[in-house]
Amino acid sequence: MGRLSELRTHVNYELEMIPDPKIRTGAVSHLYGVSLAATMLAKKRGLDPELASMAAMLHDLWAYKNGSYEDHAHRGAALAREILEGLGLTSPEETDVICSAIYHHDDKLTVDGPMEELLKDADVVHHCMNDLSKAVKEKEKARFENLCKEFGME
Ligand SMILES: [Fe+2]
Ligand SMILES: [Fe+2]
Repeated sequence: MGRLSELRTHVNYELEMIPDPKIRTGAVSHLYGVSLAATMLAKKRGLDPELASMAAMLHDLWAYKNGSYEDHAHRGAALAREILEGLGLTSPEETDVICSAIYHHDDKLTVDGPMEELLKDADVVHHCMNDLSKAVKEKEKARFENLCKEFGME
């Protein structure tokens, strides 16, 4: 089994613990949706698709487990580190790359490194394209416009 599959097995287990079926379904949809978007963005931008997808699978797990978005990016990065160190699938450098992307993923209005930007953009792709009838959030507008340009969807 590949590393992404192994991580997904663990994340699936954590998601199955969420008692509310609506929150559970939303969590599965979002984490897998962002994971797919992260893979596409990584292929397009010449970054590591496996690490990008792994970061996406973990990026909001803390929020779903705790039913709160309070400081969820920073707390989520700490949870991701705990999980990755427990599973032993990644080198310390790879763990740092994943955790840094998660740590910064809620800073949608600032520009960080390539993997941090990739995770923010993958998050925005799922927020904006999962249901085109929903309005794009103000803080995601500029990022979504740039993504549409990048993918020739102007
Ligand atoms: Fe988030
Ligand atoms: Fe998210």
